[in-house]
Amino acid sequence: MLIDNHHRSISYLRLSVTDRCNLRCSYCMPATIRFRNRKELLSDEEIIRLAAVLAPEGINKVRITGGEPFSRRGLPLLLERLLKIKGIETLSLTSNGILALPYLETLAGLGIRDINLSMDTLQKKRFREITGSDTFHLVWKAFEKCLHLKMRLRINTVVMAGINTDELRDFALLTALYPVDVRLIEEMPFNGKSDPGRHSSWDHRRILAELSSCAELEERPRLPGATATNYKVKGHVGSIGIIPAYSRTFCGTCNRLRITSTGAIKTCLYGDDVLNVRDLMRSGASDSALLERINAALGNRHLNGWEAAGNRQNALLENMSAIGG
Ligand code: GTP
Ligand code: 5AD
Ligand code: SF4
Repeated sequence: MLIDNHHRSISYLRLSVTDRCNLRCSYCMPATIRFRNRKELLSDEEIIRLAAVLAPEGINKVRITGGEPFSRRGLPLLLERLLKIKGIETLSLTSNGILALPYLETLAGLGIRDINLSMDTLQKKRFREITGSDTFHLVWKAFEKCLHLKMRLRINTVVMAGINTDELRDFALLTALYPVDVRLIEEMPFNGKSDPGRHSSWDHRRILAELSSCAELEERPRLPGATATNYKVKGHVGSIGIIPAYSRTFCGTCNRLRITSTGAIKTCLYGDDVLNVRDLMRSGASDSALLERINAALGNRHLNGWEAAGNRQNALLENMSAIGG
């Protein structure tokens, strides 16, 4: 079992498979960015080896993140191999959806049931302004296809002051029409621009107040380890939730381990890279040595993200596409 120094059992691996993305969302990366070359990324073999080492230790959920996961060549084959690893019960993805459409049927066939789709606006023109790409129609097609395939669809919406806060009511309405879980996310400072971002004026309380003013909300119980507090509007088929990603009210039950696309281990989204498993593997480390080093990292975790962030000035220079979200 993987247990951290605060007695939390770690069962959820967030695995970034690429730092590349086909979009340029302003809250996530600077307009110009240098992507890693392929050799710097974990190879399929290395990813499979890591998952095979971690699954017997209790990792039963793996979420594939990016950048945009579908930017990685050969992703479906990698997913198929991950699903064959005994102990991995849930394999899910967080994607912007644009490149996903041709693969969704294959993914459903493999047994992948969970997709988190980024969608910060329901307006075509605004989508182009936020992402730099006129492709809202492709995201919508992926949305419809996921529902058609009866996948569990969660919509990630980063709440940006002065940009999409007038759409919260529309997102609540979306849950009347479709069986999806919308999650309104506090903006975090990981935009690679040393710019703390616009998070402060729209924290989870303000988002909740705004939502409550347009709908009667009924709170759902929050599962341990979950990031979102979800609400149901009476009569709606879906739910609407809030992720206090910046306020970090959920850290106490955190069950997550992160591996970036270049093999860095992060024991907190707000923390430093504490170990590089790619380098360890490439220098010939055995499985037990790998595990020992990962356990040592978990033995030195902060209780919550506020402590981990501490005075790290460089946190503001990082961008989410490289961290993996
Ligand atoms: P599931 O619970 O499996 O749905 O995943 P998730 O909601 O944690 O993951 P997703 O990749 O959809 O991320 C949604 C938002 O939550 C993103 O903005 C993430 O950066 C944020 N997030 C995910 N994990 C953490 C975390 O450990 N800490 C913080 N502060 N934010 C997180
Ligand atoms: N703040 C909050 N959420 C972010 N995401 C990317 N950058 C940020 C940020 N600065 C979200 C994306 C995606 C998820 C992995 O992380 O919307 O859905
Ligand atoms: Fe790409 Fe996702 Fe970052 Fe947007 S949030 S630029 S879709 S990695």
